[in-house]
Amino acid sequence: YREQIPIDKGIDNSLALMTEGYKYITNRRERFGRDMFETRLLGGQRAICIAGEEAAKVFYDEEKIMRKGAAPKRIRQTIFGEKAIQTMDGASHEHRKALFMSFMSEDKLKEVVNITRDVYDQFIQKWEEMDKVVLFEESKELLTLVACRWAGVPLQSGEVKQRTNELAALFDSAAAIGPRHWRGRQARNSAESWIRNMIEQIRSGNMKADETILSKIANYRDSQGNLLNSQVAAVEVLNILRPIVAIAVYMTFCALAIHKFPKQSEKLSDADDAYNEMFVQEVRRYYPFFPFAAARVRKDFLWQGHDFKKGNLVLLDIYGTNHHPKLWKKPWLFNPNRFANRDDNPFDFIPQGGGDYYEGHRCPGEWLTIEVMKITTDIFARKMDYNVPAQNLEYSMMRMPSLPKSRFVFTSVKKIN
Ligand code: HEM
Repeated sequence: YREQIPIDKGIDNSLALMTEGYKYITNRRERFGRDMFETRLLGGQRAICIAGEEAAKVFYDEEKIMRKGAAPKRIRQTIFGEKAIQTMDGASHEHRKALFMSFMSEDKLKEVVNITRDVYDQFIQKWEEMDKVVLFEESKELLTLVACRWAGVPLQSGEVKQRTNELAALFDSAAAIGPRHWRGRQARNSAESWIRNMIEQIRSGNMKADETILSKIANYRDSQGNLLNSQVAAVEVLNILRPIVAIAVYMTFCALAIHKFPKQSEKLSDADDAYNEMFVQEVRRYYPFFPFAAARVRKDFLWQGHDFKKGNLVLLDIYGTNHHPKLWKKPWLFNPNRFANRDDNPFDFIPQGGGDYYEGHRCPGEWLTIEVMKITTDIFARKMDYNVPAQNLEYSMMRMPSLPKSRFVFTSVKKIN
C-alpha cells in the first residue's frame, strides 16, 4: 500500500529546525500522531523525518540509505571536515572504519582509562586550590590533554588553551549560525593545519611517532593502497580528538544528574560497576546531545506506505527515539534501573547512532565515551567532596549541543582518601 504521509508545510523549515532544536521532530510526530513525516530543509529539499526502532533499522540499511551528499557544507566546514569518514559509503567506508575500530581494542581502551584517571588526579589537585570550578570549561581542557596523549599528538603546555578552544569550537559550531559558526570554521582551518603539519613531518621522517594513533592514520592506506591526502588524514585525526573533547558535554550532564537525582545517585556510592554503567547509560539516554542523524535515499524503496525516492534526505530522530514512549516506560523520568537486565538492541537506544560499528556509521567512540563517563560518575559520587552553589542549571532544548546555563559550578573541592 501507498499513502500520503503528513507534511510539515512550508518551502523551507530549516529555521523551525534550528529554533525548536531537539524537539523539532518530536513536536511534529506528536502533532501528526505518526513516526514519519515529510518536511523541507536545507534550501527546500524534501526530507523525511523518522523515529523509533523500525526507523533506525531502515536508516542503517546500507542497501537503502547512503551518506553521500547528506552532510551540508556548513557541517563539513565545522564538525566533520571535508572527505571525512562520515560522508563515505560501501567498501571504502568499511575499510576506513576498520582503522577507527582498531583504536578501540581492549588494550587501547585500558590505556585511555588510565590516562583519564591520571589527568583527573591532576585536575582534582588543582580544583582543591580554586574558589570556584566551572566543570564544562575544565572538562574540555582535561579531555584535550587526554585525547592528545592517547592519540600521540604532542601538545606544548603553552598551546593547551588554544587547542582546547579550537577542538571545542568544532563541535559547538555545527548547529550554530553567526559568530559561533564562524569561530568553528576558523578553528577547523587552524586545527587542520596544526595536524596536517605533523602528518607531513611523520611521512618525511622528521617526526618520530612510533605506534601512535597519529602515526597509524599518517601511514594508513585506503582500499586502493594509497596514503590519504595529508589534509584528509588531519581531518580523521581530528575525528578522534574533537569527539573526545565533546565528552565534556556528557561529563557535565553526569555531574548534573548526580546533583539533581540524589536518590538514583546514592546507589553509586556503594554499588558495583554495573550500577555505575546503568547510570551512565541513562545519562546518555535522558539528556540531549546529538539531535538526529542525516543520510540520503540510495535507491527508491517503499517503507510503511511511503515511497522513498532516490536522493531524498532522511533524518533519524536520535533524541526522539531515546524518548520514544513505545520503547521506554515513562521516558521523561531519570531511571538508571531501566537498564537492568536489558537485552542489547542496536536499534532502540541510539545516542551515538545505531546498527553495526564495522559495517555502518555507528559511533566508533561509544565504548570509550562510556568508560570516560564511568570514571566521571565514580569521581563525582565517590572520590570528591564538593558543594554545588545556587546557579542556573537549566539546559535549553534549542541550543545544540545543549548544556546547563551555568556550565555546572562547584566549590570547596576535597579529594576523598
Ligand atoms: C559517529 C555521537 C564520541 C568518533 C557518531 C554519530 C553519532 C555520534 C550520533 C553518527 C552516527 C550516524 O551517523 O549514524 C557521539 C557522541 C559522543 C561521541 C554523543 C560523545 C561525546 C565519540 C568519540 C569518538 C567518536 C569519543 C572517537 C574517539 C566518531 C566517528 C564517527 C562518529 C569517527 C563517524 C563514524 C562513521 O561515519 O562510520 N558519533 N560520538 N565519537 N563518532 Fe561519535
